[in-house]
Amino acid sequence: MNKDSGMDRDEKVLWILNEGTKYFRDHAADVSAFGEDETEAARRFHSTVPGYGPTPLWSLPHLAEMLGVRGIYIKDESYRFGLNAFKALGASYAIAKYLSSRLGKEISELSYETLIGDAVRDALGEVTFASATDGNHGRAVAWTARILRQNAVIYMPKGSSRRRYDAIAAEGAHVTILDVNYDESVRIAAAEAEKNGWVVVQDTSRTGCEDIPMWIMQGYGTMPCEAMEQLHASGAPEPTHVFVQAGVGSYAGAVQGFFRARFGGSCPRVVVAEASKAACFYRSASAGDGNPHIVTGDLDTIMAGLACGEPNPAAFGILRDHASAFVSCPDYVSARGMRMLGNPLTGDPFIRSGESGAVTAGLLAFIMGGHAPGFREALKLGRDSTILMFSTEGDTDPVRYRSAVWDGEFPSFGAYGGEGRGRTRSARPYNSLFHDHVIRNAGAGRCN
Ligand SMILES: Cc1ncc(COP(=O)(O)O)c(C=O)c1O
Repeated sequence: MNKDSGMDRDEKVLWILNEGTKYFRDHAADVSAFGEDETEAARRFHSTVPGYGPTPLWSLPHLAEMLGVRGIYIKDESYRFGLNAFKALGASYAIAKYLSSRLGKEISELSYETLIGDAVRDALGEVTFASATDGNHGRAVAWTARILRQNAVIYMPKGSSRRRYDAIAAEGAHVTILDVNYDESVRIAAAEAEKNGWVVVQDTSRTGCEDIPMWIMQGYGTMPCEAMEQLHASGAPEPTHVFVQAGVGSYAGAVQGFFRARFGGSCPRVVVAEASKAACFYRSASAGDGNPHIVTGDLDTIMAGLACGEPNPAAFGILRDHASAFVSCPDYVSARGMRMLGNPLTGDPFIRSGESGAVTAGLLAFIMGGHAPGFREALKLGRDSTILMFSTEGDTDPVRYRSAVWDGEFPSFGAYGGEGRGRTRSARPYNSLFHDHVIRNAGAGRCN
């Protein structure tokens, strides 16, 4: 361990191939919630919200050439609603769906204009939405509450960035930084909401509170939906690989659900990247019993948006049954991604990508840079591959951004990190009764 900059320079990138998925062909988690009708409903609502427009999908042909792949496409969510992150897609759709259900109407009957009207206020009164957040989700909830003329109360975990706090407070929300980690903050937000009659807008489900997290996930579907339209419009090939980053996994699960629903058995391989200090999906896949396994402690990583130790159960099933691989990434992987995207090769676009946004680009460079040859081969990443990624945030903490990009905090794997380490999840993955049943009914063929 070298503590110069608070990082463990010896920490390895760890991956696990999700071979177990071949047993789930007929029993995999249902992705119909991410089918065309559902995705269109969210997209239609978003298009009524002020400031909506598809975010740019950048092509990086020179980086693709350097890394030895056919194409790299990155959706730049720093442009989303002027909020510097993708999260408002989920919060706005979930809150709209909540209000529409309270009004006894279909979301298709309501637009943003209707929701801010006096008729809605007369019917429902003032509603307070509560959430726990690393920053981006809370800002999205606070922003949605403000534009819909409602209220927001936001709890942030210990160690939260002052700048992210300020951004949420600037939306008019009541914000508190707690002295506990993210997962505890979620519990506190839920308890306070219960006591005060607030509505919890959390991107992870609890028993009896499944609707809002699912609506948040469906709202995220607008992102891959736009990306596919943009790829088609530019004549680019279909993606062969999609790299996503996971905190509680709601966004990764939504993207995986979208592609599986759209492409069925020939959907692209989905690779899930996590912060090593909060790698609950990687840990769960390693345990191999088909159940979620949580990570506890301070979850201290520069990837604040990924600092979540408990998977969203709805997302967990989808990723467990459909994703191709889970990767535990030390902070230097993300810092490398930030520097690469912020200092593009001549002719490639500049992308301002923050800590949680850039980890997938850093991971692709790690894999294609020869640090994990077995993993690259297993994923079939090479000259024929087209990779789609999502830079989910810009410089939401500008000081931290400059510290990595200008001052070189968290040196890259060119110097540190060396080889990664990985393995394949056992071909008999789970030992519960349910999964025994699944194994007995195993068939050939799979999407990943
Ligand atoms: C910028 C950014 N990227 C990715 C994520 C991960 O999303 P999820 O928690 O749904 O896995 C977050 C979550 O807050 C985020 O803020």
